[in-house]
Amino acid sequence: MLLEVRDLHVEFRTREGIARAVNGVGYAVDAGETLAVLGESGSGKSVTAQAVMGILDTPPGRITGGRVLFQGRDLLTLKEEERRRIRGAGMAMIFQDALSALNPVLTVGDQLGEMFVVHRGMSKKDARARAIELMDRVRIPAARQRVRDYPHQFSGGMRQRIMIAMALALQPALIIADEPTTALDVTVQAQVMDLLAELRREYGMGLVLITHDLGVVADVADRIAVMYAGRIVESAPVHDIYKSPAHPYTRGLLDSIPRLDRKGRRLYAIEGLPPSLTHIPPGCPFHPRCPLARDVCRTDDPPLYEVDEQRESACHFWRECLHGRS
Ligand SMILES: Nc1ncnc2c1ncn2[C@@H]1O[C@H](COP(=O)(O)OP(=O)(O)OP(=O)(O)O)[C@@H](O)[C@H]1O
Ligand code: SF4
Ligand SMILES: [Mg+2]
Repeated sequence: MLLEVRDLHVEFRTREGIARAVNGVGYAVDAGETLAVLGESGSGKSVTAQAVMGILDTPPGRITGGRVLFQGRDLLTLKEEERRRIRGAGMAMIFQDALSALNPVLTVGDQLGEMFVVHRGMSKKDARARAIELMDRVRIPAARQRVRDYPHQFSGGMRQRIMIAMALALQPALIIADEPTTALDVTVQAQVMDLLAELRREYGMGLVLITHDLGVVADVADRIAVMYAGRIVESAPVHDIYKSPAHPYTRGLLDSIPRLDRKGRRLYAIEGLPPSLTHIPPGCPFHPRCPLARDVCRTDDPPLYEVDEQRESACHFWRECLHGRS
């Protein structure tokens, strides 16, 4: 397994108390596989990714438990220097907002080139040539000229391509993309997502794709992990989830996206709001919003039940959900 996150816990100290942002998250990604991590805003998708990458703000954040195994090594036990080496060369991250992730006072050529100078000891001239190659690779037109431009001189979609190029530079085994297309127009979103999927295939990388848009994952992901209140509530191959979810929250997410095969049906939105992370309700954290909830859900926290070999659901009544009796 390329990446395996086990029982990860992350807390934040806030004025309202301890916010339990990540509560026992586990997921795994193999080489060449794409895992989509899905969930509403605040469900802990980014914090989990930051903990995996070793870029969590500490304080206020704190990893209070769990393991992050990357190619078999537990990253949480490594020294910062070793982690830095793994970042970039072993795993890289793509963020939502390229403008704030890129350095505004360096040309994109210098930023891309720096990766090769610092990590590979290349000369500036060779690094510049590699930068141009990479810009070509992510299909930035006129790369040879544009290599001298600054990030703000590019459109949003082109900037996102530059960030993809940065992430690819050292050919990492794993890329974590945190909402890589959310800030873009819909048509540009599709182009960037297609490019990312194509490069992932070509380089044979593992990809963790964080998104709150179930619509984009169908074509690119192999598996989906659905997060709610800092936990994984369902994890399954993408086709199984689309066919029939095994958790009421996943069902709610699915029913709230427009689908061609369901034209004319009114869109359903999950009622209510996610819980405050300083006061997660007892029992099943989803019970205040769940159409299937009953007494046991208010008192008994569901474990992750094994639905089948490939699939898990944290719902006492996953069978009912799976067979559509809701
Ligand atoms: N720097 C921070 N200080 C305090 N709390 C934080 C901080 N960063 C995150 N949190 C807490 O962690 C929770 C989970 O945040 P996270 O960014 O992982 O959500 P997300 O699932 O990525 O949401 P989104 O879809 O909006 O990006 C937040 O609701 C917030 O309460
Ligand atoms: S355990 Fe109960 S409240 Fe939680 S998702 Fe299942 S049915 Fe709903
Ligand atoms: Mg996020």
